[in-house]
Amino acid sequence: MPRRITGFTPSGDLHLGNYLGAMRPIIGPQHDADTVVFVSDLHALTLDHEPADVRRRTLEFATLLLAAGVDPDACLFMVQSHVPEHTELHYLLECVTGYGEAQRMIQFKEKSRRQEHIRTSLLTYPILMAADILLYDIDEVPVGEDQRQHVELARDLATRFNARYGETFTVPRAVNPAVAARVMDLSAPKEKMSKSTSSAAGALRLLDEPDQLRRKIMRAVTDAGTTVTYDPERSPGVANLLDILGGCTHHDPRDLAKTFDRYGELKTAVADAVVDTLAPIQERYRELAARPDHVRDVLRAGAGRARERAGETVRRTRAAIGLLPT
Ligand code: TYM
Repeated sequence: MPRRITGFTPSGDLHLGNYLGAMRPIIGPQHDADTVVFVSDLHALTLDHEPADVRRRTLEFATLLLAAGVDPDACLFMVQSHVPEHTELHYLLECVTGYGEAQRMIQFKEKSRRQEHIRTSLLTYPILMAADILLYDIDEVPVGEDQRQHVELARDLATRFNARYGETFTVPRAVNPAVAARVMDLSAPKEKMSKSTSSAAGALRLLDEPDQLRRKIMRAVTDAGTTVTYDPERSPGVANLLDILGGCTHHDPRDLAKTFDRYGELKTAVADAVVDTLAPIQERYRELAARPDHVRDVLRAGAGRARERAGETVRRTRAAIGLLPT
């Protein structure tokens, strides 16, 4: 059975890109894989944040993941900060990471450009992400395209550590979904749909009301043309709508393009598909959100199981790198 992991950072609201890019790809095959799903709350501390927002969103994200179908009996499901082994391995991996290597990460360059005060944790965030992955002997990391470079770093660090200190880590690889690995912003279709930078009109939030979802899709930026073709370069807005439709309905966006004459028809089909995809998740979310104590019990049990597994990897790593056993 392949071992797989993915995480979601509770900064901003979860959107359709998160769902199609990572949530559905890890949840779908969860009964045929050894799966770890977690809320990466420590990653939300890398930019200025309100403590109460991070706490509220951590529970909201966990509730949404359960609503989207995470089966806590089949997966390891927890909050990152409840498993202190993540930060312990983070430090040990910092000791095999080059400073320049961390600085070269595209997301660090983009996010640090927007900050006046850059937190050191923003620079070292991909090393924490490598720790998340390497702790659980992961083979595959289903993520959207924007996280591919970080998974490459985890690969590099695992390979380097093994070569220098002896076989310790499994070397993981990123897997991107075939369609919708990079869902774009509806009002700025050259930018990715983002929790932190998309405007309210640009992102389809998982908890948006059906009316809001429809309105945003009907107002999505297309272009001056009239015929529907799949051309991400010249017609990124239309290609994005086709990707979203393809992602929701499991069809190839190029084939779908041939079935529409006008943009209006395409938008109506996209709106129907998105509302149909999200409605059952929203319904389960409302039921679960009424039982926060149940969600917290599930997370507590998950953290206990995760610590056992992660503790084993940390012991192995400490021994390999030269720390005296207690
Ligand atoms: P995060 O919270 O930014 O995003 C969660 C997942 O959603 C994917 N994603 C997208 N996919 C398609 N289109 C988009 N517009 C889009 N936007 C986001 C992301 O690629 C991601 O898979 N650092 C990670 C969380 C993390 C993690 C990990 C993931 C922490 N540790 C270990 C995998 C393994 C992050 O902040 O993702």
